[in-house]
Amino acid sequence: MKITKICCIGAGYVGGPTMAVIAKNNPHLKITVVDINQDRIDAWNDSDLSKLPIYEPGLADIVKETRNKNLFFSTNIDAAIDESEMIFISVNTPTKTYGKGKGMASDLKYIELCARNIAEVAKTDKIVVEKSTLPVRTAEAIKSILHNTGSDINFHILSNPEFLAEGTAVQDLLHPDRVLIGGESEAAIDSLVKIYNTWVPEAKILRTNLWSSELSKLTANAFLAQRVSSINAISELCELTGANINEVAKAIGMDSRIGPKFLQASIGFGGSCFQKDILNLVYIARSYNLNEVADYWEQVIIMNDHQKRRFSERLIKTLYDTVSGKKIGVLGWAFKKDTNDTRESAAIYVTDHLLNEQALLSVYDPKVSRVKIQSDLNYLNTRSEQENNDGVTVETCPYEALKNAHAVAIMTEWDEFKTYDWKKIYTDMKKPAFIFDGRNLLDKSEMKAIGFDYYAIGQ
Ligand code: UDX
Ligand code: ADP
Repeated sequence: MKITKICCIGAGYVGGPTMAVIAKNNPHLKITVVDINQDRIDAWNDSDLSKLPIYEPGLADIVKETRNKNLFFSTNIDAAIDESEMIFISVNTPTKTYGKGKGMASDLKYIELCARNIAEVAKTDKIVVEKSTLPVRTAEAIKSILHNTGSDINFHILSNPEFLAEGTAVQDLLHPDRVLIGGESEAAIDSLVKIYNTWVPEAKILRTNLWSSELSKLTANAFLAQRVSSINAISELCELTGANINEVAKAIGMDSRIGPKFLQASIGFGGSCFQKDILNLVYIARSYNLNEVADYWEQVIIMNDHQKRRFSERLIKTLYDTVSGKKIGVLGWAFKKDTNDTRESAAIYVTDHLLNEQALLSVYDPKVSRVKIQSDLNYLNTRSEQENNDGVTVETCPYEALKNAHAVAIMTEWDEFKTYDWKKIYTDMKKPAFIFDGRNLLDKSEMKAIGFDYYAIGQ
């Protein structure tokens, strides 16, 4: 099928950057990214590029280059579906918060709504591309909805999971390790290969069946998360034995079979994918009565929750077993550097724990707004909005956030934290002044020389 127009449903952290990069490399394709959220679309269309709804290094330049030339953002979903030969579905698939599979399975209601929307609007044949991370065999459900419209329109379903990591999305999209396309129709796969092939070498484009493609995405995320939980598990042992986790990570990472990446001990992984995808895998395994398989992967989450909890407990214990009424400065709220995304960020859970102990938190993040921080805490439903407001202030200046604090907790590895005047911060803090470095970001000997009591992960 000749593709001239593409539509992407969902203008989020995946849909936005992915379509921008496709548009840049395919100037003759018209690409429309649609969303039900008017504010989000308005932000994508804002002439002030600093107002784009998601922060990603390099993204604003590509949007500037392509927007309103061959890349468009709109809330007119039906019109975009109608005119396009290929439709990407890139909507959110959060963990279910109700009913069967609550807390484990993915909520597919947004996917189903998209499929029904496409079925209703389509008047010509379409290739529908699954871009969201989904449980294995979701394509089957989409297919069933699309093939039961009673019309003679042909729908081809492809699974094309996205492997970009936030914070490096543009580079990941421009230079992917691989592009994975699962499907049943070779012709439909060919149409999508042609689009990627404008900048990705053919050898890096993998063709699989639908289910392999879906399962590969869940498995890749489970393996990556498992590496973080593995190094974090060893970090606890390091703290008791005198070994240093950075030295251990370097030593094992030089084994070419293990490799050096993704061995950074931390306060625990966050983000929209790792936890959700593993829970999904566990749920699927249990539904096939594979209890050993389910328990095996579930342990990755258990370890991650333990790591977050352990961090706040260590902080409280070190501050003489009480943080009640004490100001704690929090540096970083995003789940990793170079993104404004806060989904499942460890900062949220550590802050919640410290609020239970009546600490007074003062937060600074270079890219996350006060409104977002308060809404992340309110979403937990642990206490009233008023109590969250009273317990947490959000500063736009890091030095203000840390002034008169008893301790600093570093939650995100933003580069700018390393450049601060830590002598000044020390002078302005209560003594003894503590740093709890959840990212092993700062130089231990430098901080000790200034006078800080410095605690890192796995040291
Ligand atoms: C992940 C996958 O990397 C990506 O391929 C997939 O498409 C989506 O999920 P993302 O969640 O955006 O990407 O970021 P990632 O870099 O994987 O980091 C996830 C979390 O793990 C972050 O909280 C990060 O700080 C943490 N992490 C990562 C560590 O604690 N240590 C590490 O060594 C690496
Ligand atoms: P991701 O990180 O997977 O991109 P996001 O939550 O950032 O997830 O983005 C998903 C987007 O999908 C949101 O902006 C949401 O408004 C949009 N969305 C959800 N359901 C629909 C739908 N039925 N039609 C159009 N857009 C939708």
